[in-house]
Amino acid sequence: MTRPTRRFPRPTAMAHLLVSDVVREGDTVVDATIGNGHDTLFLKRLVGSSGEVIGFDIQDQAIAQTRDRLGENNAVHLHLDSHENMSSYLDGEVNAVMFNLGYLPGGDQTVITIPESTLAALKAASEHLAINGVITIVAYIGHEGGSDEALKVDQWAEALCPDHFSVIRYEFSNRKNKAPYLIGIQRLA
Ligand SMILES: C[S@@+](CC[C@H](N)C(=O)[O-])C[C@H]1O[C@@H](n2cnc3c(N)ncnc32)[C@H](O)[C@@H]1O
Repeated sequence: MTRPTRRFPRPTAMAHLLVSDVVREGDTVVDATIGNGHDTLFLKRLVGSSGEVIGFDIQDQAIAQTRDRLGENNAVHLHLDSHENMSSYLDGEVNAVMFNLGYLPGGDQTVITIPESTLAALKAASEHLAINGVITIVAYIGHEGGSDEALKVDQWAEALCPDHFSVIRYEFSNRKNKAPYLIGIQRLA
């Protein structure tokens, strides 16, 4: 019998696995960095029409092309605002918050996520996270400022109280190039 060729998932795909493990139809979830809308679409499919996806990006281009990708949808709310302000848009708990740091692929590579707002957004996300809910962060270290941001995110995540949060890191550790990696956070209590 032939065996299918399966490789370890990339960090972005692993983020989807972690999120799909806990998110159910009807849930409320956040895409903290809409970009080209791939994660927004993934989240929309998970929560269905009875759920809600709340998304943020600071670039018009990201919002516009994601609107095109998703079409009219009452369950998806896209905001042209920094993710650090997410608390203003959230009524209650959320079941997942996805971050995909860095710059918009195919867009202006000088517009990047920066540590100050990323950390403020992570703090807000952790305060709104439901028990068992997850935050995923795909961190890129290949562009200028990326490794500094990734380090600060690592330090913030590692300092979370282990009674309340479980933190994992997923990476291809034998790669020579500056490969992105995933930080996953689950609220325990
Ligand atoms: C790597 S892209 C995201 C890719 C996206 N998740 C996807 O599925 O296509 C990073 C995005 O973060 C956005 N961004 C940068 N700073 C931000 C901020 N403070 N708040 C929200 N989005 C921000 C950028 O404009 C860019 O579109």
